[in-house]
Amino acid sequence: MPTPDPPERYRKIVISRLAGEFRDSTDIVETDWRDPAPGQVVVRNRYAGVNAVFDKNLCRNGIRYVDVVPPYDMGIESVGHVVAAGRDVEGLGLGDAVATVALGHGFREYQVIDATRCVRVREASREVLALIPTGISALVGLKHIARMTTGETVVVSAAAGGLGQFVVQLAKLAGNHVVGLTSTTAKADALRSIGCDRVINYREEDLREVLTREYPAGINLGYDSVGGEVFDALLDHLAMRGRLVVSGHTSDFDQPEDPAAAARVYRKLYWKSASVLGFQNPAFPEHFAAAAAEILDLYYSGRLKVLVDPVHFKGLESVADAEEHLLSGQNIGKVVVEI
Ligand SMILES: NC(=O)c1ccc[n+]([C@@H]2O[C@H](COP(=O)([O-])OP(=O)(O)OC[C@H]3O[C@@H](n4cnc5c(N)ncnc54)[C@H](OP(=O)(O)O)[C@@H]3O)[C@@H](O)[C@H]2O)c1
Repeated sequence: MPTPDPPERYRKIVISRLAGEFRDSTDIVETDWRDPAPGQVVVRNRYAGVNAVFDKNLCRNGIRYVDVVPPYDMGIESVGHVVAAGRDVEGLGLGDAVATVALGHGFREYQVIDATRCVRVREASREVLALIPTGISALVGLKHIARMTTGETVVVSAAAGGLGQFVVQLAKLAGNHVVGLTSTTAKADALRSIGCDRVINYREEDLREVLTREYPAGINLGYDSVGGEVFDALLDHLAMRGRLVVSGHTSDFDQPEDPAAAARVYRKLYWKSASVLGFQNPAFPEHFAAAAAEILDLYYSGRLKVLVDPVHFKGLESVADAEEHLLSGQNIGKVVVEI
């Protein structure tokens, strides 16, 4: 909703020191209101998304394409309402709901951003926040990186998480047999509710045994964001011409690289004509707009569900708790903070 009297100052979260953990590295600080330049809008952020692996990496200057020099603004995606617009802004007006994806624009009460970087949405809801950009990542990764087809066996790790839920559903919508990996009964139930054909609770069943027994021809497409032993198991079970997308490695992202574990991957790939494909959504901006339109259409037409983690985090003070909640692995769906 428009803010008739913009505040002189508002609050945001910055990295003040590179201490490794989000809680130790960040502070809530005040900043001055700034009027939008031509072509820019000011957005009152309502909800912001939590990307705990990325954020913790930032807090140790561990993102390879970012050089963090404190003070460094935090948070990426948000949804909110336009409350001020500069000259020459086209297609957006006061009160419009928008989604934005920009480094440093998430964990703050207001943001100034180029209007062209705003995705106009029907409502600034938690669900829309989960779709942009996490749903987009799933869609681009499957469609453009993994070259998803139909009738294949697709295995998804962290399947009940913010990202995994969309990988599962998009692979299912395309007519594939989808196997979801997870660690709790509640998450397994959530995965069945979004159409997973086979759920493997890796705390109760041995992943390698199940894959060998139930999928003797191998898996055609693996979509992994956990890494470590999960990656190794999926790699070893790739079918002929199988593809394995590396979409993260939550299990060991904050550990030093282990040269001994750097498997001679070519020996596993060559004779199967298989591929391992690294994927980070920001490297593929050319697909963003079309993928945003497609994922929103799937949601609004009722073909795609959105799991938002039920734990309610409110206010910038709760962001550190939300980050730790995600890293504890307890979340079901996207972790969201109400700003
Ligand atoms: N490539 C891209 O463009 C892109 C986009 C978004 C996210 N990502 C990456 O994808 C991963 C998932 O991100 P997300 O925000 O959607 O998180 P998330 O999947 O909602 O949460 C992480 C999940 O990972 C699983 N997990 C497995 N081992 C874990 C461990 N040792 N510690 C903590 N969790 C563990 C847990 O699920 P289970 O209990 O079910 O195993 C946990 O719920 C992250 O690595 C993130 O950086 C990549």
